[in-house]
Amino acid sequence: QAFFKPICNTEPPSPTKRHTKISIIGTGNVGMAITQTILTQDLCDEIALVDAKPDKLRGEMLDLQHGAAFLPRTKIKASVDYDVTVGSDLCIVTAGARQIPGESRLNLMQRNLSLFKCIIPPLAKYSPDSVLLIVSNPVDVLTYVAWKLSGFPSNRVIGSGTNLDSSRFRFLIADHLDVNAQDVQAYIVGEHGDSSVALWSSISVGGVPLLSLLERQQIAYEKATLEKIHREVVESAYEVISLKGYTSWAIGYSAASLARTILRDQRRIHPVSVLAKGFHGIHDGDVFLSLPAQLGRSGVLG
Ligand code: NAI
Ligand code: 2OP
Repeated sequence: QAFFKPICNTEPPSPTKRHTKISIIGTGNVGMAITQTILTQDLCDEIALVDAKPDKLRGEMLDLQHGAAFLPRTKIKASVDYDVTVGSDLCIVTAGARQIPGESRLNLMQRNLSLFKCIIPPLAKYSPDSVLLIVSNPVDVLTYVAWKLSGFPSNRVIGSGTNLDSSRFRFLIADHLDVNAQDVQAYIVGEHGDSSVALWSSISVGGVPLLSLLERQQIAYEKATLEKIHREVVESAYEVISLKGYTSWAIGYSAASLARTILRDQRRIHPVSVLAKGFHGIHDGDVFLSLPAQLGRSGVLG
């Protein structure tokens, strides 16, 4: 007689439980930070990793698989071939060149544009109903490129945009006021990075508009302090890149928060790169910029 008898559920799996799959293209610093955050937060049943370097790719897959005993159950696959991505609900693209210290994001444009021509068409072919989340830089321009190359409706092509800049902004305001960043509601919109725009008038802390909070606590409204905080947001990535060579952890959390909202249909509002035509006086031209957008299972909710 067996000493150990496992308790087995003989019921067939519930037909209502939906299998969710995320594909992550590019297993560099950013792709792996996003993958690791998604795994620890139990956001899907299956992750497919794709990269152009087969050894690095297999090494990353094995290293993650070896953590299985400490993680929620997620099947992890990897291949240089895009057929591994088939049937994805969400495809996150992080592949491509990154900045060297002092280099602008826009300078990556030509190199990453040619990569996207090889990456987006197979993703669209294998997962025609997926949502595409673009992270590679320059993210706003490449989200437009991904929209054009995929042929997807614009609601299913999103750039991580200023979701990250807004998190940096919330951290700096929270640090300045000595409060929790989760209690700070604040948006950075427009282009991710150098020419982003801070929405000062809509900042609130614990539901109280910031400018009136400063007034009530008799803290002088110092325009220079507020401008300095925005300048720090813009310079954040340059500083981190000059110190450690790349940014990864914050974009990992930022992209995972978008994955959670989309796959769990949470209908939360995030500042992300979307087709801006028709909003805020933008009538001509197809341009992708970050605006507060409500996200859910079908991408940008209309
Ligand atoms: P990395 O150099 O560590 O990784 C890039 C990966 O892409 C490498 O593993 C490389 O083998 C892979 N790759 C290159 N060509 C490929 C192809 N044709 N198919 C599949 N994989 C390919 O770079 P890192 O630090 O991961 O940055 C990746 C991108 O993310 C950069 O463009 C960077 O600027 C951007 N980024 C964007 C952020 C945002 O907020 N939108 C934040 C941080 C980085
Ligand atoms: C960042 O802002 C480099 O775009 C990247 O961290």
